[in-house]
Amino acid sequence: MNIRNLNSNENYPMGLLLLADPSLKIVEEYVKRGNCFIAESENQIIGTYVLLPTRPETVELVNIAVAEEMHGKGIGKQLVLHAIQTARRKGFKTIEIGTGNSSIGQLALYQKCGFRIVGVDADFFIRHYTEKICENGIQCRDMIRLSQDL
Ligand code: COA
Repeated sequence: MNIRNLNSNENYPMGLLLLADPSLKIVEEYVKRGNCFIAESENQIIGTYVLLPTRPETVELVNIAVAEEMHGKGIGKQLVLHAIQTARRKGFKTIEIGTGNSSIGQLALYQKCGFRIVGVDADFFIRHYTEKICENGIQCRDMIRLSQDL
């Protein structure tokens, strides 16, 4: 597997990006301002992540996704660790990520990669998404904010 920056003449991997974020409008808005990376294997795009500078010295991992048939093989973890390394190499001092209260696997993955929970944005998904989101039998309402010093 090779992870690289998406070139400016290449299309965004929208199918993958929408796995992580169901709002096309929100994805289209941040992907243009951010830095999109792709993971390729045998000429197929199997994963992606997007880094978006937010405040001075702070970058947010606003999207991370792995092709559904490739889940559970360690690719997501490699992408998160690559994003952390990239942010550090670019001189950022803090990397942040947010995920839903119902995203149990993602909360496990991010904490295994060194993120700590720093806050809760209550009712974020109620305010910003029109569709009701449910995972693991839990309604997704709140954004759990995680952060890591680089
Ligand atoms: N409890 C404990 N650990 C769990 C867990 C759970 N319920 N679910 C996952 N994990 C752990 C795994 O054990 C693994 O850790 P390990 O390597 O120490 O065993 C780690 O989390 C992730 O495994 P990995 O195989 O690298 O993940 P993946 O390749 O399936 O990718 C996602 C993870 C989230 C990127 C992938 O599931 C995905 O694309 N989901 C849809 C998009 C999405 O939700 N993106 C994030 C939006 S916030």
